[in-house]
Amino acid sequence: MSDTQTATNRPALPAEIARRRTFAIISHPDAGKTTLTEKFLLYGGAIQMAGQVRAKGEARRTRSDFMQMEKDRGISVSASAMSFDFKHFRFNLVDTPGHSDFSEDTYRTLTAVDAAVMVIDGAKGVESQTQKLFEVCRLRDLPILTFCNKMDREARDTFEIIDEIQENLAIDVTPASWPIGMGRDFLGCYDLLNDRLELMDRADRNKVAETITLNGLDDPAMEDHIPAALLEQLREEVEMARELLPTLDPQSVLEGHMTPIWFGSAINSFGVQELMEGIATYGPEPQPQRASPREIAPEEKKVTGFVFKVQANMDPKHRDRVAFVRLASGHFHRGMKLTHVRSKKPMAISNPVLFLASDRELAEEAWAGDIIGIPNHGQLRIGDTLTEGEMLKATGIPSFAPELLQSCRAGDPMKAKHLEKALMQFAEEGAAKVFKPAFGSGFIVGVVGALQFEVLGSRIELEYGLPVRFEGSQFTSARWVHGQKDAVEKFTNANKQHIAHDHDGDVVYLTRLQWDIDRVERDYPDVTLSATKEML
Ligand code: G4P
Repeated sequence: MSDTQTATNRPALPAEIARRRTFAIISHPDAGKTTLTEKFLLYGGAIQMAGQVRAKGEARRTRSDFMQMEKDRGISVSASAMSFDFKHFRFNLVDTPGHSDFSEDTYRTLTAVDAAVMVIDGAKGVESQTQKLFEVCRLRDLPILTFCNKMDREARDTFEIIDEIQENLAIDVTPASWPIGMGRDFLGCYDLLNDRLELMDRADRNKVAETITLNGLDDPAMEDHIPAALLEQLREEVEMARELLPTLDPQSVLEGHMTPIWFGSAINSFGVQELMEGIATYGPEPQPQRASPREIAPEEKKVTGFVFKVQANMDPKHRDRVAFVRLASGHFHRGMKLTHVRSKKPMAISNPVLFLASDRELAEEAWAGDIIGIPNHGQLRIGDTLTEGEMLKATGIPSFAPELLQSCRAGDPMKAKHLEKALMQFAEEGAAKVFKPAFGSGFIVGVVGALQFEVLGSRIELEYGLPVRFEGSQFTSARWVHGQKDAVEKFTNANKQHIAHDHDGDVVYLTRLQWDIDRVERDYPDVTLSATKEML
C-alpha cells in the first residue's frame, strides 16, 4: 500500500481536497473509543502524550461526571472536532456523543462525515449502541472500517467475531489483519494487505509496533518470531480465511457493503497505525453533499458549508456560540463573506477556528471536507447553509420527535422571560425540543433520553443562574403538522388543547397516546403529522 494509492470515486478532486479524510468513531461505551482517539492524535503528532483527551476522574461516565464534562465546555468542545495530519493526509475526526441519550446529536454528527470507524471490544463483539449507530451509518451508506480492540485480553475466536459482524450488521467483512494468539499470548498480527508481520511491544504503550517484512506466511523467518503451535494455527486460520471470507474490494467498501477489519490493542498502540493507513487508503475523499435544489460537489470552486452542530456558552461569561460547519465545497479563506442562506444576509467569517487536538486556532484557510467552528451570536443554527451567493440548502439533517416530554418552569415565577430565552437557546443548539403550548403558560421540553433533562437543568442553572423545575406532562410525544394553510388552521382551532409551537414557530401537535395520532389521521385527511422535520 503506498501513500498515494487510494480508492477514489471522485478523480477530479484537487489534491488539497483529495487528501482529506473526515470521519467519526462509532462504538459502544467502553470499547476503547477514547483510547483510540488519543492514539490517533499521538500518531498524528497533535498531542505529545496519551491521556490528554480523557476527561479527568476515574468514573467519568457516571452521571455527575458526565454533567461535569458538559459544564467543562473546554473538554467537550475540543473533542467535538479534531484535525491532525497523518503522512500526507489531513484527518478530521468528528466526535459522536458517547451516551445513547444523545442519539439525535449523533445522527447529525454523522451527516458531517464521509466514513466511520467502528470500534468493537474483542470479547464483547457487536454491542447494542454499536448496532444502533451502525444502522444510522447504513441509512447514509457510509463506508465503515472496523477496529477490533482489546486483543491483549481474552477475546472471542476471530472467525466468530467476523461472523457476528456479518450476521448482525448484514455487511461483508474482510480481514485486513489476522491476530496471532490472544490475551496473554497475543503477539501481534499478520498484516494480510502487506504480507508482513506486526509484533506488539507490551513494554512501551506509546511505541509503534515492530514491523518485520517477510515473504508471505511461509517465510522460514516466521519461525524466529512465533512459537511453532501459534504459527501453525496462524497458517491454518489465514488459509481458511482466504478461502471462506471475501477479499478486500475497495469499491464495495466505498459503497458501504463491505468493511475491512483490523485487530489490535489501542491501549498498547497496536494496530492503530495500520488502521490509520486503512482510513487513508480505503476511507473516502470528501463526498458530495445532498442539497436542494442540487447536490454540492466538493470540487466546486465556490465555498459552501453547512452547520451540523451548535455549541453555546462555551464561556458562560461571554455567551458565545460556536457553529460547527462542514465545508462541502471549495477553498475557504479567513475573512470571506458568505451568504447565510436562511436569512439571505451576508456574513463575514472573520474568526473561524480549527480544532487541533486540545487547542483551537484561527483557521486561515480550509478546504472541502474540513470542519471549522464559527463563533456567532445566535445567527447560525443547525441545518443552516453558507454559500457564495447561491440559494442552496443542505438537506438530510433532520430533527426527530422527542420521546419524553416534561413541562418546565422557573423556580422563580418572575423569571419566566429569562427561562424562555434560555430554553430557546438550547432548542437552537439542538439540545432539546422546546414547545410553547397554545393554551396555558410555561413550556414543554422534549428530549430523546431522560439524562438530557438533568443536563439541561444543570446547564440552565449554571449558565443562566436560573433554578428550574421539570414536571411530568400529560403529553408523551409530539408531531409536526403539515398541510395547506387553511387546513392546518382549521385543525389547530379545533384541537387547541394539543397545539404548541416549536422554537421556529412551526405548529406541533402534542400527543398522549398513539390513539391521538390515529384519530387525527382518520378525522383530518387534509393534514399530515410527521415525526421528523428537516432543520431550517
Ligand atoms: P470508550 O471511550 O469507548 O468508552 O472507552 P475507553 O477508551 O475509555 O476505554 C475503556 C476502558 O478500556 C479503559 O479502561 C481503557 O483503558 C481500556 N482499554 C482501551 N483499549 C484497551 C486495550 O486495547 N486493551 C485493554 N486491555 N484495555 C483497553 P478503564 O479501566 O475503564 O479506564 P482507565 O482507568 O484505563 O482510564
